[in-house]
Amino acid sequence: MLEMGKPSFLVFLLLLHCFMGSLAWTKTNISTDKSALLALKSYITSDPYDFLANWSVSSSPCNWIGVRCDTRHRRVHSLNLGGMELKGSISPQLGNLSILVELDLSYNNFYGQIPKDLVRLRNLKLFNLSYNDFHDEQVPTWIGDLSSLVQLSVRNNSLNGFIPLSLFNLSSLEIIDCNFNFIEGTIPLEVGRLKQLKILRLEGNKLSGNIPHTISNLSSIELLSLSYNSLSGGIPNEIGHLSQLKILYLGVNQLAGSIPSSIFNNSVLQEIDLSTNQLSGEIPSSLFSISTLRVVDFTQNNLNGSVPTSIDNGTKLEVLYLGYNSFIGEIPSSLFSISTLRVVYFNQNNLSGSLPTSINNGTRLEDLVLRFNSFIGEIPSFIWNMPSLRLAMFSENHFKGNLPDEICHQLPLLEILGVTCNQFEGSIPQSITNCTSLKGLYLGGNSFTGFIPKDIGNLVKLEKIDLGANNLSGPIPPNIFNISTLTNLNLEANILLAFSHHI
Ligand SMILES: *[C@@H]1O[C@H](CO)[C@@H](O)[C@H](O)[C@H]1NC(C)=O
Ligand SMILES: *[C@@H]1O[C@H](CO)[C@@H](O)[C@H](O)[C@H]1NC(C)=O
Ligand SMILES: *[C@@H]1O[C@H](CO)[C@@H](O)[C@H](O)[C@H]1NC(C)=O
Ligand SMILES: *[C@@H]1O[C@H](CO)[C@@H](O)[C@H](O)[C@H]1NC(C)=O
Ligand SMILES: *[C@@H]1O[C@H](CO)[C@@H](O)[C@H](O)[C@H]1NC(C)=O
Ligand SMILES: *[C@@H]1O[C@H](CO)[C@@H](O)[C@H](O)[C@H]1NC(C)=O
Ligand SMILES: *[C@@H]1O[C@H](CO)[C@@H](O)[C@H](O)[C@H]1NC(C)=O
Ligand SMILES: *[C@@H]1O[C@H](CO)[C@@H](O)[C@H](O)[C@H]1NC(C)=O
Ligand SMILES: *[C@@H]1O[C@H](CO)[C@@H](O)[C@H](O)[C@H]1NC(C)=O
Ligand SMILES: *[C@@H]1O[C@H](CO)[C@@H](O)[C@H](O)[C@H]1NC(C)=O
Ligand SMILES: *[C@@H]1O[C@H](CO)[C@@H](O)[C@H](O)[C@H]1NC(C)=O
Ligand SMILES: *[C@@H]1O[C@H](CO)[C@@H](O)[C@H](O)[C@H]1NC(C)=O
Repeated sequence: MLEMGKPSFLVFLLLLHCFMGSLAWTKTNISTDKSALLALKSYITSDPYDFLANWSVSSSPCNWIGVRCDTRHRRVHSLNLGGMELKGSISPQLGNLSILVELDLSYNNFYGQIPKDLVRLRNLKLFNLSYNDFHDEQVPTWIGDLSSLVQLSVRNNSLNGFIPLSLFNLSSLEIIDCNFNFIEGTIPLEVGRLKQLKILRLEGNKLSGNIPHTISNLSSIELLSLSYNSLSGGIPNEIGHLSQLKILYLGVNQLAGSIPSSIFNNSVLQEIDLSTNQLSGEIPSSLFSISTLRVVDFTQNNLNGSVPTSIDNGTKLEVLYLGYNSFIGEIPSSLFSISTLRVVYFNQNNLSGSLPTSINNGTRLEDLVLRFNSFIGEIPSFIWNMPSLRLAMFSENHFKGNLPDEICHQLPLLEILGVTCNQFEGSIPQSITNCTSLKGLYLGGNSFTGFIPKDIGNLVKLEKIDLGANNLSGPIPPNIFNISTLTNLNLEANILLAFSHHI
């Protein structure tokens, strides 16, 4: 009897379970969904484009704008009201959408607290509240009970408090985007439990403490963005073990110590931003050997030593920001052999020597910013033949030579030409008036002679002209005063003929 009783009792339990389960299904139906949505509509105080005009009692919610139903159960499966400029708070009845899988309320003006009733959305996979005015003492702890969650974004709201530990119970999470809130405290060690996590964005919050070494457990991570916080300590060596990591943003924190060379022992890294920290020591020599790396930003640290000279033929580097550090030595002679290179900032360092003269024929430099170093020699002529050039900033160095007569025959995009405080001589080429995109012309503090180009007034976008402290002579072309955008004009300390015009 006992042997027979046990299984039949189990069968009974199983049947009971199924019955209760179907009871749960029948307890709510499409009418529940409809009233939940109508309740939400009644909480919306502004719908400037009348998006919700056809949300009415007389029609099925499955036909309403922003609503999609599950074809099998005919229940509301996704609610996407993104970018409708709706204003209002969230009705607690929204938690009645019991089979909802996607909830996207991004880019609206929803405000107030996120109602706890949403904890009942147990099937929710995508929860996107980004770009609203949600205000909460805390990222809701109950989010940790939304056990199906795959993508979570609360970006650009006003959430305060700590990151709830419950979040790290959500083992299916692939995306967490909490950028631009007021979240404080440390990044919990538990973060390492999210083995599926591909994207972690915590940029622009008030996080402090160290980057936890458990980050090395995030074996699926592709994008890690912790910029604009107050993180301190070193960059954990373990970051180099994240074999899927493509994008690493740690800029604008208080990170110190050296850059772990393990970071560059990665074959998929594309962008790295470590700018505005207190990192010291040298740049790992493997910098130019990752073939996938496109963007490097180490601006404003205490890095020293020389810029790595070994440049791998396969490098696809496009953007290199190394300004505001203490680098010494010369620019690697084959730097401009990188055909993909577009943007180069070496400003405010202690670099010296002359500029490399060899260039890959395919290279299209846009920004070349070398201000405040100790470079010598002449500017290689290829630079003035780079039709893509936008910023050419060579000021405060020891460059010498002339500006070539045909300087602006090929620089239609040039916005800034800066060579102040160098040892240039000769005249200012007439062809400068061909650089019609120029906004800033900084030639002061050199030994330029001759006249100011008479057609300088053709440069109608000029905002700043510094020709001071040279040996220029002759008349000041009157058309210079016709440039309506001009805000700064320095002609001091030359031997120009005075005019009655003043600016
Ligand atoms: C939904 O369920 C309620 C009772 O819970 C019932 O009165 C109503 O007729 C049902 N509606 C539909 C469309 O099944
Ligand atoms: C509501 O508007 C949308 C978009 O204009 C339309 O696709 C849908 O059929 C309308 N639904 C009803 C019930 O009128
Ligand atoms: C919907 O949710 C609200 C608040 O969460 C609750 O009070 C109400 O009973 C629910 N209504 C239905 C029809 O389930
Ligand atoms: C959330 O919505 C924003 C704006 O529509 C979008 O850019 C972002 O990719 C979405 N994030 C997630 C995790 O769905
Ligand atoms: C998001 O927040 C950041 C930081 O406050 C701000 O700079 C950005 O403009 C915001 N984005 C939008 C679309 O509101
Ligand atoms: C995580 O889940 C476990 C098991 O469900 C639970 O005991 C624990 O309290 C949860 N942790 C947090 C921080 O919510
Ligand atoms: C990291 O992963 C290891 C191995 O999978 C595991 O033992 C450990 O508990 C994980 N650490 C955290 C903080 O999740
Ligand atoms: C780089 O990776 C190789 C193989 O994956 C490993 O043997 C080596 O220790 C790593 N080097 C660093 C600095 O992490
Ligand atoms: C670079 O900085 C490190 C750490 O600050 C220091 O130990 C080292 O001597 C410096 N090297 C050079 C070449 O200045
Ligand atoms: C670089 O690689 C390309 C193809 O991968 C090859 O054609 C070229 O000769 C190489 N250049 C140098 C300088 O090694
Ligand atoms: C550079 O490439 C262009 C075509 O893109 C070609 O016309 C020119 O001859 C090349 N110059 C040199 C020096 O190889
Ligand atoms: C402007 O450039 C063209 C060639 O692009 C050249 O023919 C012309 O002489 C230049 N003008 C001046 C003032 O140099």
